[in-house]
Parts: sequence; C-alpha cells; structure tokens
Amino acid sequence: MLEHNLIASSLIALGSWSMATVRARADGGSSVLDRTIGAQEEATGTAPSRDNDGGDHQRRVVEQGGSRGPRLIIVSNRVAVPEQGNKQIAGGLEVAVKAALRNRTGVWFGCSGKIDDTEPAEPRTVERNHITYAIIDLSKNDFEEYYNGLANRVLWPILHYRVDLQEYSRANQSGYMRVNRLFAERLSAFVREDDVIWVHDYHLMPLARELRARGHLNPIGFFLHIPCAPLDILRTLPHHQEILGALTDYDLVGFQTENDRDNFAAYVLTIPGAKAARALTFEVHGRQTRIGAFPVSIETATYARLARNAARSPLAREIGESLKGLRLVLGVDRLDCCKGIVQRINAFDRFLELNPEWRSRVTLLQITPGSRSDITDQAATENEATTLTARVNGRYGEASWTPIRYVNCYHSRTALSGIYRAADVALVTPLREGMNLVAKEYVAAQDAENPGVLVLSQFAGATAELTGALIVNPHDSEAVAAALKRALEMPLAERRERHGPMLKHLLVHDVEHWAESFLSALAETRQRPGLMSDLRAFLTPSWSRGPMSP
Ligand code: F6P
Repeated sequence: MLEHNLIASSLIALGSWSMATVRARADGGSSVLDRTIGAQEEATGTAPSRDNDGGDHQRRVVEQGGSRGPRLIIVSNRVAVPEQGNKQIAGGLEVAVKAALRNRTGVWFGCSGKIDDTEPAEPRTVERNHITYAIIDLSKNDFEEYYNGLANRVLWPILHYRVDLQEYSRANQSGYMRVNRLFAERLSAFVREDDVIWVHDYHLMPLARELRARGHLNPIGFFLHIPCAPLDILRTLPHHQEILGALTDYDLVGFQTENDRDNFAAYVLTIPGAKAARALTFEVHGRQTRIGAFPVSIETATYARLARNAARSPLAREIGESLKGLRLVLGVDRLDCCKGIVQRINAFDRFLELNPEWRSRVTLLQITPGSRSDITDQAATENEATTLTARVNGRYGEASWTPIRYVNCYHSRTALSGIYRAADVALVTPLREGMNLVAKEYVAAQDAENPGVLVLSQFAGATAELTGALIVNPHDSEAVAAALKRALEMPLAERRERHGPMLKHLLVHDVEHWAESFLSALAETRQRPGLMSDLRAFLTPSWSRGPMSP
C-alpha cells in the first residue's frame, strides 16, 4: 500500500513537472523537453544546440515549473550558505546550483565546511529566498577519509586520468561510504514523496543507492562536474563497483561532454547483469538509468555586464597603469596538478626564448588561489610553479620588466571579470578538465568590438563548444608558444570573427539552459515508454537485489 502511494505521488510530481512543458508549448514554440529529448538527442545523447531563440522562453519554463511544482533538493559536498553581506560567489558548482534553484522552491543539502567531533547532530537549516540550506558538520576523521582521502586523493586523480597519483586505502573507502550513509540518513528526514533530488559530483556517487535503500522512490539525478576517464582507467579504482557501479541507482547521470558520457557507457556494460535498454539507457538488475551530456555553463549575460562595469573600476585602472603599455596574457586556475600551470609557464618560457622581439612587451599574469592545501600533490605543483616562475623571471626579466606575475591572492568575481576584460590573451591550458568555466567567463567578459583571444587546451571540456579558440595540446610547449604569438599578433577582424559566434553560443547555452536541460531530461526518465518496468523496478528496491559482485 505504501509503495502504491509512493508511486502515485511520484507520478503526480512528474505530472506537475511536465505541466511546465505543456504551458511552455501553449506559449508557442517547441518545449525545452522536446529539444532536450527529441530526435537529435536520441541520436547523440547530448543536450542539443538551441538556435538563437533566446533565453526568455527557457526562463519561462523554469518559472512555470518552479515554486508551484515539487521541491528540488540539491545535494553537494559543500553548501554555500549566503552570509549577510557576503556577495562573493565561489566556484562553478555554486553558480550552477544557484541557477538550478532559481525560481524554484528548494533545499540545498550538504556539509557546512566545519569540523565537529561531537556526535553528529541534526542538520542546521537556514532559510533564504525560498531556499532551505541544510548543513551538517563532519568529524575530523570523516573529513579526512571521505573528503581529503577517497574523494580528493583517489577519485579526483583517477577521473582526471592521473592513476599514478591515486592514494587508495581501505580506510578511506570505508570513510567515503560511511559519510555517504550519513548524508542519506540525515537527508532522509527532509525528503518528501514528490521531491526531485539532484546530487552533484564525485563526493556523493553512492548516495542514490543509500537513499533507495531507505525506501526513497523519488526521481534522483546525478551530475559529474569533473571528467570521466576511459574504462581501463576507471577500473584501476579498487572495488569500483561499490562507487562507480552505484551510479546506476540514479535515474539520470549527466556528464560534461559526450566523451565523458561514452566512457561511462563503456563502464556500465562491464557491470554483471547490465544491458543497454535503448539509446543511452541501461538496465541493471531491473532498474533503468539514462545517461547524457549536459555541458555546464555560466550566467553569460550577467557576467558580461559585470565585466563591462568592472572595466571602469579603480582596480582595472590600477592594473592598466601597472602594465605601462605591456600586453597582458592571463592564466587563472585553482592550484591543481591537472590545470597544467607548470606546462604553461614552460610554454611562456619557450615563447620568450623563440620570440625575443616580444620580450619587455608582454607579461603573463598567473592568478592561482590555493585550494586543497592538504593534498600533497598540490604542494608539489606549487613548488614547481614558483621555482619555474623565478627561473623565467631571472632569465629574461629586467629591472623595469617582470615577465611573469604569479599571485595566490583571492580576487572577487567582479575584480576577476575586469581582469579578464583587460587581458589580450587567456591561456586556458589544463591537462584534463571537465569543462573549464574560466574559458567561458573570458569569452563573456570581452569587449565585442575589440575582443581578446582564447588559447584553449584540447583536453578541456569547453573545447567542444568554444570553437573560435586557438586549440592547443598543453604538453607541446612549442605549439602553445606558437599559439600565443599568433594570438598576440591576430588582426582585429579575425579576433572578432572568432569571438562573436562563441559569445552568441554562450548567451543561449548559459547555466540556466544547462539546469533546465538536465531537469527536463530527469523528468523525462519517468515519462518514457519503459515507465512500467521502471515502476516494477521500484517495487523491488535495491537492498533486496543482493550485493553486486566485487
Ligand atoms: O566547482 C569546481 C569543483 O572542482 C567541483 O567539481 C567540485 O565539486 C568543487 O570544485 C570542489 O571544491 P572544494 O573541494 O573546494 O569544495
């Protein structure tokens, strides 16, 4: 009886989600759902390109599905609770989550960032603008094993193709599973039958399995913000099926690119008992999981406005004055081995060596705020980057010219947008990256009349969309040096030709488009022809299926 009620309320929830689509259709034009799930996606599995039909229609759908519909529960490791007077926005995940919650009634659940060794308490909640922020503290041991341990010392390197850097231990794996259970236990009390749940990133892969084990039949989606490595690399994770295999308990698993999605598809088929149900949908032990590519994005229009205003700020003036006519090349990365900072400095060294005419005429500003300082590999990257910077500055610098300015200080979002706008070239050259939002922000921040040039790694997810960039292999310092020279010397007409279509693309494919595409596809997983088999699978919850083979 309980199960029937749960299914009924799930269908009611899905009904109200699809109402948004029906209303949008009555407004004229095809619905987001049509575009997301339509023929193009059946063929490619990607959230399809939208022609320039404007973001307004998209926003209407968000509003209509919003506060009148079911609640959206976002779950991520870290929650950014708005503090009074704190207007800073931290990272890509935060911008993305906020876009998903905009115009919706929602809950954002996760860690507070505080360590507390007392017995885990109930989540603390804060209400702001229709959103309930629900946060828990972790013990020192949980934080060490789950966050620093398995998430950042094992999953992060493996998913970024750096098997050599993983520091696996059983203690860390059990800490990771324990914290995922803790999340599920604490979250369980918040979940209503008609909620839609969206889990974010590699910290929380087994969460749906834990929630299903507690009887939650809600639509649950997962989005991986970082890359997904190929099958052979994924299988270097000991006991991978407990973590990666658990993704099959979600209704929809989203990736940044088709490449990431296809890597995971190859992995799913190695799970005993898994089979392809239809294009991009897999069936594992009677439950279906759909996968797709949903490239995350930025608030393009807002960011462009921010940069326009920041260009008139005192900071922009100060930077302009400090450059004294030098051309500005910019790198902005969190300190991480995958960002290619060391390779970039090497390439700049090579550029100055091969192009003496550019010495004293250009400076590389590398902004690298520190982050997970507990990760040993990051300390090594920092040492290498600072040693190399000193060497390049010593070799080519003059009393009146410093080739590389390497800074670790934090810049506000506004200040950064002004710096992007002032930069002639952005060197965005990660060795591997899920998307890279710096690349998108750089494009949005440019003066369309006189834009700078983006030099972009072929290994960043953003490459699939930012086709006007100069694409480079970051391991090839000569190629990066040549691209930098080309960028600095590029005529205005070519710069405009490259920049215009990228900006146009980003204005349509902004972060709201991303959120709406994902959520529409998640709703669709419960409306497809296979609905009845899904419902049957719900009647056989995951805990009764027996353990998966190791
Ligand atoms: O937003 C970028 C990102 O790398 C996400 O993929 C990830 O969830 C988040 O940062 C983690 O940041 P931190 O470890 O600082 O909380």
